[in-house]
Parts: sequence; structure tokens; C-alpha cells
Amino acid sequence: MPEPIKLDLVQRPRRLRRTGALRALTEETVLLPRHLIAPLFVVDGKSAPEEIKSMPGVFRLSIADLVKECRALHKLGIRGVALFPKLDAKLKDDKGTGALDEDALVLRAVRAVKKAVPELAVITDVALDPYTTHGHDGVLNAARDDVENDRTVGILCQMAVLQARAGVDLVAPSDMMDGRVGAIRKSLDAAGFSGTGILAYAVKYNSAYYGPFREAVGSAQAAGTRLLSKATYQMNPANRREAVIEATLDTLEGADILMVKPAGPYLDIIREVRHATRKPIAAYQVSGEYAQIQAAARLGWLDLARTRHESLLAIKRAGADIILTYFAKEMAKELGR
Ligand code: PBG
Repeated sequence: MPEPIKLDLVQRPRRLRRTGALRALTEETVLLPRHLIAPLFVVDGKSAPEEIKSMPGVFRLSIADLVKECRALHKLGIRGVALFPKLDAKLKDDKGTGALDEDALVLRAVRAVKKAVPELAVITDVALDPYTTHGHDGVLNAARDDVENDRTVGILCQMAVLQARAGVDLVAPSDMMDGRVGAIRKSLDAAGFSGTGILAYAVKYNSAYYGPFREAVGSAQAAGTRLLSKATYQMNPANRREAVIEATLDTLEGADILMVKPAGPYLDIIREVRHATRKPIAAYQVSGEYAQIQAAARLGWLDLARTRHESLLAIKRAGADIILTYFAKEMAKELGR
């Protein structure tokens, strides 16, 4: 062993890492169950929970099981759930008509959850992808080569009002049409739902990380291809300045919370939006981020508990107030209330 060299240091950052107490006292970022929102998938009928292949540990639930799960999540200190319906292929069509069915699966699910666990904030997506045969978030134009913005926004407004009537706390437009936040705000107010908030998917990228989710809600096979491109409405992953434009527009249009999605690969974007707005920021750790960690853990290449914690801490540290994550339940168990 060589002799230690003489270092004349005044600053020794390791001093504050020396003991558990000092590390805890100087910890900058805190992650609690109340910062997490659990995305949940719901199906019609009375079937037993079915696991989503590319998302181990995530299940499609009947409404009865969904209600049980919401009770359990609430006991663990989780304050919000985001509900996603998986429709029978028979109920889908070209125009996503099922989205305006007053007895739609997701509306029944909302009513059941709000009745059983009223304290839990319930959030629903406003977008047509679970309802269209082509899997796009809106209706197609006459040439069928793009999603028609303004016609789609009209449908989304009606959809948001139905969700508000069913009792959601926040509607979450995830479609990325231009002007939809403002139009939805106006429609909600006109229908008497000025208290229903908008959690805007303000900065949503055209990401490959949504793959497992599309399996979960059956919107991937719909177009007959896994290559379904949403590039004409979701953002280009190469762009950062544009995130500020989108966040600013949604704020001006009346969004209450701004979401960045995906989260982990877009920490710089979360930070950028944090500097650009005073609004609360949500970040969505999407299905592919979850799948990646699960897959590596299954291969024995990563430690599941430590990796999921670190992945969420990083999102919080970047500036997110709220995180939507498929790890919500397991994380809440680990963190305690
Ligand atoms: C649909 C929607 C998507 C997700 C949430 N809402 C997929 C998409 O835009 O194709 C992705 C969530 C995830 O991957 O976990 N508008």
C-alpha cells in the first residue's frame, strides 16, 4: 500500500455522506406515496385479472377488481388513479364512436371508483385511441393520411363533459391536438363543470416507449401494424424548445397541471418545463420505462427495488411534482405513508 498523499482540502463533500443521519439530513429530494398516481387498466365483464405480457405485475381489471385495487392503493397513501379502458374489438370503429357512449366502460368504472373511494382523485384520458379501429387518437381526414385536428377537438370536448359528469376530478387530454385544452375548458364550464380540472398531456413525445401500453389497451394491433405513427401530432423526440411552447400554450388555454411524457428519458424536458412555469408538473413514467426495468430485473441484470426507486427519484429531482407510474403500488408499500 502506498502512503496517502498530502491533500490540503478545506472542502471534503464526503463528510456529509459519512453516516446515515447526515445523509438523511442533507437529502434534497423526497419521494412519498402521495406524489404518485397509479395508471390502471379496466375491462368489461367479470373476468379474472389478466396480466399484460410486456408489463409483468400489471393487470387488466374488471370494474369490481378495479374498485378493490383502488381501496388498497388508497390505504397505502396513493391519492390518484388514472383509468384506461381496454375495449372489445367489436366496440371499436373508424370514428371512435364508443368514446361518446354515455354508458362507456370507463364512465362506469369512474362512477364505481368515486362511489367506493370518494377521497381518491380519479383521472381519465381524453383521446380516441381506445375507441378507434386504426388506433389513432382522433378521427382521420378525407384522404385518411392524417388525424383531423378541429373535428377531433369537437369530439374530445364532448368526451370530457361525459367524464366530468361521471365524476372525474381531472380530465387528461392525451391526444396532442392543437387547441384542445382551451376548447375542453370552455365546454366543461358551459356544462357546469368549472370545478373539474385539466391535467394536460402538454409535452407528449412520439415515443417508442408506449409500445407495451398499446398492447395493454389493444391499440397497437388495430392498425394491423406495430408501426402506427403518431408523428403528425405527438412531438419530435429531438425537440426541447418546442416543449416550452407546448407548455405555455396549454397554460394559457387553462391547463391546471402540465404533464411531460415519457419521463425518464426526458428529464431535461421536465427541468426545462419546471423553469418555464409555476404550475404543478406531472411526469408519466410510461409502459416502456416500466418494461425495461422489469425485463432487466428478470434477467438478474438490475436490482428491481433499487432501480425503480432511483428511476422515480430522478424524475422527482428533475422537477416533477407528481409521477404517474406502474410502480405506484409497490413503491408506496416500500415508502410507507
Ligand atoms: C393514448 C395514451 C398513450 C399513453 C397514455 N395515453 C399511448 C399513445 O399515445 O399511443 C401511453 C402510456 C404508456 O405508455 O404507459 N393517447
